Amino acid sequence: MEKRATFATKIGVIAATVGSSVGLGNIWRFPYEAGQNGGAAFLLVYLGFVVLLGIPVMLAEFTVGRRSKANVNDAFRVLKPNSNWHLVGLFGILAAVLIMGFYAVIAGWTLEYVFQSVGNTLDKGSPEAMHTAFTSFTSSPIRPLAWTILFLSLNYAIISRGVRGGIEKASNVLMPFLFVVLIIFSIHSLTLDGAKEGLAFLFKPDFSKITSGVVLSAMGQAFFSLSLGMGTLITYASYFGKSTDLPRTSVYVAILDTLVAIIAGVIIFPAVFTYGLSPEQGPELLFVTLPNIFSQMPGGYFWSILFFILIAVAALTSTISLCEVVVAYLHEKIGFTRRRATQILTAICITLSTLCSLSFGLLSDITVFGKNFFDLSDFTASNILLPLGGLLISLFVGWSLDRSAVKEELSNKGTIPMPYFNILIFILKYIAPIGISIIFLSGLGLF
Ligand code: PHE
Repeated sequence: MEKRATFATKIGVIAATVGSSVGLGNIWRFPYEAGQNGGAAFLLVYLGFVVLLGIPVMLAEFTVGRRSKANVNDAFRVLKPNSNWHLVGLFGILAAVLIMGFYAVIAGWTLEYVFQSVGNTLDKGSPEAMHTAFTSFTSSPIRPLAWTILFLSLNYAIISRGVRGGIEKASNVLMPFLFVVLIIFSIHSLTLDGAKEGLAFLFKPDFSKITSGVVLSAMGQAFFSLSLGMGTLITYASYFGKSTDLPRTSVYVAILDTLVAIIAGVIIFPAVFTYGLSPEQGPELLFVTLPNIFSQMPGGYFWSILFFILIAVAALTSTISLCEVVVAYLHEKIGFTRRRATQILTAICITLSTLCSLSFGLLSDITVFGKNFFDLSDFTASNILLPLGGLLISLFVGWSLDRSAVKEELSNKGTIPMPYFNILIFILKYIAPIGISIIFLSGLGLF
């Protein structure tokens, strides 16, 4: 039997897992969610969820992945044969495909912005002019789609080469690069006139802003940003070696992911206040704020190319992980070669992304439950499948798996001290399922 691949080095494990977590969720979604939900108040609640739910659910996924050494569907069969738990894996696959559909569209937009940066054609007029340029681009039928397809082709090229050849090498080079450039940008933003106001918005909480809506968005953002609830980290952990320190890895990943989101905030909000933009404008925040920064920045031409490449790269290391969930399943379970599995998945992604992309223009009138196809994919994946997946994985590890098996896996057979083990199990058994139920139900508008 073909020997299953593992990540070759410790750094590879962390870089690939951080690569999965850090993406558009941090750089595009976090600032606009924070902008719409009270800034610092949102950040504070978000941090609470990362620690209280994010790390425990991540450890649950790591346990299932490394113990089973299997794709997301088989993982549950290996650990609990003759049960229905493997359906959780199928949820994950569905969520991965749905997320790919809309995520690739936003990633495609970043490529357009790379292109426009190179050609120096990004609109540098008033904030209104930048907004108009943005919507006229996103609503056109062909152009955004062409970039999305290009993005999916890059994704294909990396993923079809397999775990060591593709993912690990790409992540090792790209992730540190991303970090350095983000830090340079945040330093620049700190020199802007609106820096003080921007930082106060992000870091000085107004507790009266913490409403139930803010709490729920912060929890959803934590799941999305840490790649939880759909088996991405089960799949990646199935490639971890037996000496990988799971608790330490989860803490590193959570810290780095959170740091990137905060740095993105430090880049965006000073600029928002400097250029008189609204922090509450939603998904376009990143795309209308950045050109303002570049237009005023010394060497702006060069920086804007670099920055949009960087965002595209961050998106790529996340989509690689999303696709790996599906490719590992199609390869190991259905028996396709990795290349064929990747081809099939890419074809499905192109179809879904086409519908998502056109829902900003031609298909904007076609709605289900009042949502266009883009919103519907995001809603179904983020508000239904991720929370449901996270809830089920917590229940699985908290209740169904043998407690001693969980401890053995997380402590590397007792070689890592785990004084907090009982707290972890308590969270997985009670806190996580109840907390996640709240997002799930409110996502469905049931309360
Ligand atoms: N965490 C990724 C991001 O922040 C998105 C993602 C979600 C990736 C779920 C994998 C699984 O961009």
